[in-house]
Amino acid sequence: MRDRDCIGFLQWALPRLGLRWPGYRKVRGTVCKRVGRRLRALGLVDLDAYRDVLAAGPREWEYLETFCRIPISRFWRDRGVFERLGREILPALAADARKRGRRLVRCWSAGCASGEEAYSLRILWREDVQPAFPEAEISILGTDAEPTMIARAEAACYGAGSLKDLPPEWRDRAFDRDGAVLRLRPELRQGVVFRLQDIREMQPEGPFDLILCRNLAFTYFAEPLQRAVLERIDRRLRAGGYLVIGSHERLPDDAPGYAPLDGLPVYRKRADGER
Ligand SMILES: C[S@@+](CC[C@H](N)C(=O)[O-])C[C@H]1O[C@@H](n2cnc3c(N)ncnc32)[C@H](O)[C@@H]1O
Repeated sequence: MRDRDCIGFLQWALPRLGLRWPGYRKVRGTVCKRVGRRLRALGLVDLDAYRDVLAAGPREWEYLETFCRIPISRFWRDRGVFERLGREILPALAADARKRGRRLVRCWSAGCASGEEAYSLRILWREDVQPAFPEAEISILGTDAEPTMIARAEAACYGAGSLKDLPPEWRDRAFDRDGAVLRLRPELRQGVVFRLQDIREMQPEGPFDLILCRNLAFTYFAEPLQRAVLERIDRRLRAGGYLVIGSHERLPDDAPGYAPLDGLPVYRKRADGER
């Protein structure tokens, strides 16, 4: 399939799925390859024939939507964000929990891929927060719409490339080597759970102190769906809690209830009446 043809197809199909072409421009190769494979599996000659299949009913659109899920992730993606989370945000949340007589800091990683983001938080907690707040606990829920991602997250085994941004001494303390595979140590799985969930249809029960929704809704979803997702996130994030998005993303309509932290894709949710 020619790149030009696939671009034309995606520009036609993505809005019909509530997705946006600009988010896919750079990663279209992944989606085009999957669509090409689908054409071969169905014995179709070209994308026009595939449009006919799509016109026949909703089933094929469901397949197509799964081809549009981009699985890229890694530990410590956007290092500056994780440094700030460890130095300032997680300790602030732990201190706040202590002040309120609570032990638990609750986090949600939405679109968690293979668990890289959720486990990055868990490692941060042990290394940067636990020593000063030994009584506090973290619970991290990772959700993703893709069953293979959830299975990989639960297996917690990674190649070296996924860990290249993690500080080396932390990597050595967090993983056991098994040939080419790095296996997360069992104590770092404690408090981390994963659930198969499509964020468009279902969200976990809050309230959360910290929500990460990075490189999913605010990159790939069309604006109305972005607004709907933000509204659902907002209902699950407590006032004073933090929302982290991807480093190339922005919140729709500049989300007045959210105060950005200088220079980072991190927002603090304002309390009622707070400016
Ligand atoms: C590009 S990865 C981002 C992973 C991680 N948040 C990060 O920034 O490194 C996007 C993830 O969102 C998942 N995803 C796509 N559509 C979804 C949906 N509707 N609901 C939940 N997860 C979805 C994909 O399966 C994929 O694992």
